[in-house]
Amino acid sequence: MTRHLLSLWDFDQEQLNGYLTLAATLKQESKGGKRHQQLAGKTIGLIFEKPSTRTRVSFEAAMYGLGGQVIYLSGRDTQLARHEPLKDMARVMARYVDGLVVRTFGQEIVDELARYSSVPVINALTDLHHPCQILSDIMTVIEHKGPIADLHVAWVGDGNNMANSWIQAAGRLGFALTLACPEGYDPDPAILKAAQDAAAKPITVVRDPAAAVALADVINTDVWASMGQEEEQEARTKVFRPYQVNSGLVAKARPGAIVLHCLPAHRDEEITDEVLEGPQCVAWDQAENKLHIHKAILATHID
Ligand code: CP
Ligand code: NVA
Repeated sequence: MTRHLLSLWDFDQEQLNGYLTLAATLKQESKGGKRHQQLAGKTIGLIFEKPSTRTRVSFEAAMYGLGGQVIYLSGRDTQLARHEPLKDMARVMARYVDGLVVRTFGQEIVDELARYSSVPVINALTDLHHPCQILSDIMTVIEHKGPIADLHVAWVGDGNNMANSWIQAAGRLGFALTLACPEGYDPDPAILKAAQDAAAKPITVVRDPAAAVALADVINTDVWASMGQEEEQEARTKVFRPYQVNSGLVAKARPGAIVLHCLPAHRDEEITDEVLEGPQCVAWDQAENKLHIHKAILATHID
């Protein structure tokens, strides 16, 4: 297995299932009161150039929960803010810590850090991918609905980092995925093509949200303007209005469909308050599972 976790595409079905199985075991054991110590004596560095509540806290809690320690660095607190080359940062940090968890802008930044780092680099969100999030989302889907290969997942909204990682998961794990995105906001075409070519079940992009959810057991959405796109918020709000996940849209999905949102949510924009607070929404379990998946990721990659 590659030492780094930069995108889900770098892993095969068995490896992805390995994270899911280990996370379920660690969750069950922690809830049973077991104290894990797999990473005692280990330290990871978190380098976050974008804000985070869930990912930061769940990675920190996961590392402490495995007996390890964490050093958190916001982008502006490092010499990266003064343009120290990434390759220098990677080589120096690797002398101090046993792994790096990085949230940043371009995917090329985590790729470059990984190229020069002698310790594992884990992608905690880039503009292109959010791989760790999709693993916790899939863990949550399995808990609520059973094996994901038997399910149809719908993505409604922006073809963003979350959508790209869902597409890669569908390509590797073999579940049906239909994405409804407005024209001009499609997922990355190369990622889509590679996943479609490898997929056991259809991965399709449509324009009509009702068509996307018609067969859905799982409905997924995310903000219309991601971090770094704040100045596009107003224009995007107009384009994305028909893509709101509201009770009318949810009613068009299969009975018992669940609704996912990675959070933070903009209530009454991409999802209504009614749906987010409603019985079909599993966003809070999804948020919790970030803790368990991050434990599985750290236990797998850090040595
Ligand atoms: N879902 C997620 O990544 O949330 P944060 O931005 O709060 O980490
Ligand atoms: N697409 C969102 C996800 C936030 C967790 C963003 O990148 O801002």
